[in-house]
Amino acid sequence: MDSLDLLSPYLFRYKKRNFVVQEGLRPKDLDALQHMEIRPTDVFLTAYPKSGTAWMQQILVQIMDAAHPDQVEDATNRVRVPWLEASTLDNSLRERPDPRLFRTHLPPDMLPHGVRAKRIKVVYVMRNPKDVLVSSYHFAHSWTMLEAPKSFEDFFQQFLEGDVYMGSWFDHVREYYTARDQMDILFVKYGDMLKDLRGEVVKLCAFLGKDLTDEAIDQVVEASIFKNMKTNPKANYKDLVETDRYKKETMRKGIAGDWKYFFTVAQNERFDQAFKEKMSDLPLTFIWELKQ
Ligand code: A3P
Repeated sequence: MDSLDLLSPYLFRYKKRNFVVQEGLRPKDLDALQHMEIRPTDVFLTAYPKSGTAWMQQILVQIMDAAHPDQVEDATNRVRVPWLEASTLDNSLRERPDPRLFRTHLPPDMLPHGVRAKRIKVVYVMRNPKDVLVSSYHFAHSWTMLEAPKSFEDFFQQFLEGDVYMGSWFDHVREYYTARDQMDILFVKYGDMLKDLRGEVVKLCAFLGKDLTDEAIDQVVEASIFKNMKTNPKANYKDLVETDRYKKETMRKGIAGDWKYFFTVAQNERFDQAFKEKMSDLPLTFIWELKQ
């Protein structure tokens, strides 16, 4: 077995990223993923954790169902959009009808080579990092594969230093932004989805080349709003709570600005300073808060 560069009993570092310690997710498995066979019709959903992955997953599944009604399946979104890093042991997860959907938190340099070589569609979801931090803090209390943070301040500092699951948010976003010309990629912002979900769904359909009627688009939107996803067992991940892999619901609040309830004034100043230092050369803007 490879010896792991452990950051804690729960996380190991590989290529500047932090992965959970679990069978089938060793450095050799991650390397092997780069050689996975990619089909021209594959679509990859990529995101830093807690940026809206499950939300985009639901939207993509709904768009595909409307565009390919003969392929509608009675299965959870997790099955229909296999998690790339978790499917190293069970390759049958990958044997799905075209167009296949995959989701991953991997940075661009760790994606299968075919993603670039075949110019397949990649959808990258980004969310303001203050809310990503708060959502990640709660998730670390929920997912049994992660260590529960000792305090919010401890987790806050770890997040700024990139010592959390999947490493630095700042690096993840920068690396995808920098790799944008090498991929057929659409950047979608969580805040924009909150503000105008229909508008973002229309952009996604155009990017994916799926010509949906207005009515079908309305249905995608309706199925993807927070309150409807929260009660939909195919989309809400509640089965993971029932099987004790998660201690809490992941459909938690789904808003922009939750960080205001958790950050102290001093933490907010530290975060703003770090954001300025690490991101000010990128032309990226985020919605930090939205009135409900
Ligand atoms: P919160 O913890 O802030 O509520 P991911 O899927 O990448 O793990 O992201 C999880 C976050 O997305 C959670 O944020 C969750 O509530 C939010 N989310 C999931 N579905 C959503 C939806 N339909 N609308 C808004 N937010 C959603």
